[in-house]
Amino acid sequence: MQTWAIANQKGGVGKTTTSLCLARGLALAGNRVLLVDLDPHASLTRAFGIPANPPPAGTHDLFSGGSASLASLARTTDITGLKLIAAQPALATLERRGATQPGLGLALGRALHAVHTLYDHVLLDCPPTLGLLMVNALAAADRLVVPTQTDPLALHGLADMLRTAAMVERSRHRTLPQHVLPTLYDRRTRSGVHSLEQLHALYEGKAWPSAVPMDTRLRDARALAGPVAPSGRGADAYLRALRWLLQQTDKPSRKAA
Ligand SMILES: Nc1ncnc2c1ncn2[C@@H]1O[C@H](COP(=O)(O)OP(=O)(O)O)[C@@H](O)[C@H]1O
Ligand SMILES: [Mg+2]
Repeated sequence: MQTWAIANQKGGVGKTTTSLCLARGLALAGNRVLLVDLDPHASLTRAFGIPANPPPAGTHDLFSGGSASLASLARTTDITGLKLIAAQPALATLERRGATQPGLGLALGRALHAVHTLYDHVLLDCPPTLGLLMVNALAAADRLVVPTQTDPLALHGLADMLRTAAMVERSRHRTLPQHVLPTLYDRRTRSGVHSLEQLHALYEGKAWPSAVPMDTRLRDARALAGPVAPSGRGADAYLRALRWLLQQTDKPSRKAA
């Protein structure tokens, strides 16, 4: 089982769209895939048509000390081979409890370990905040995928995220390979083109040497989570990005320092 955290401390950079499109591509290729919505805003959960009220069973139950097992929380979706663990708004309250309950930072990793034979890939859609949920994701992940909007401000957010990942990597004593995925690329603007060039130059080897373009067909998250595979430049770009990520996964990772 390979676990990828899809994370960036900045919001609106395409984390949820990336999680959905990569998970969809992996399922299409015949993998058993689990998507975990770790964001209290629950955009991914809503994409699958699950209402916020009453709160669905889901990610929060993994942290609440009850007997809910991860396998029992995973629900089937309209996409063959793809299961989802829904997010509840109560996830937002976890950050406070994290400070007082030792061990809560590893709850997700433990729950995933218990089901490692059930899935080939697990994708963690992270919230845009550095808190307990993101720490759980970074502690549990084998790889970190950082979607990054191709604009000048986003490059700062990317540097913050990679610093955070390096910090977690040191404390967990296991490498956390990082992959940067340029998203929301608008080749018609000078700042877009310049930012992508800069990103590729600064993060050579770490960044996908291409970009997911702006594509209005990617805006319809309900359609992306539906039974019909999406088409268009954006969806195609995600399939290419997935192939690149899988190639990176096959490379032997560097030894832990
Ligand atoms: N490549 C793209 N082209 C056009 N719209 C996009 C693209 N990627 C994401 N979006 C839209 O941008 C917004 C933010 O994307 P989202 O995946 O929700 O980001 P995040 O999870 O980082 O907050 C959403 O409305 C989404 O539909
Ligand atoms: Mg999101």
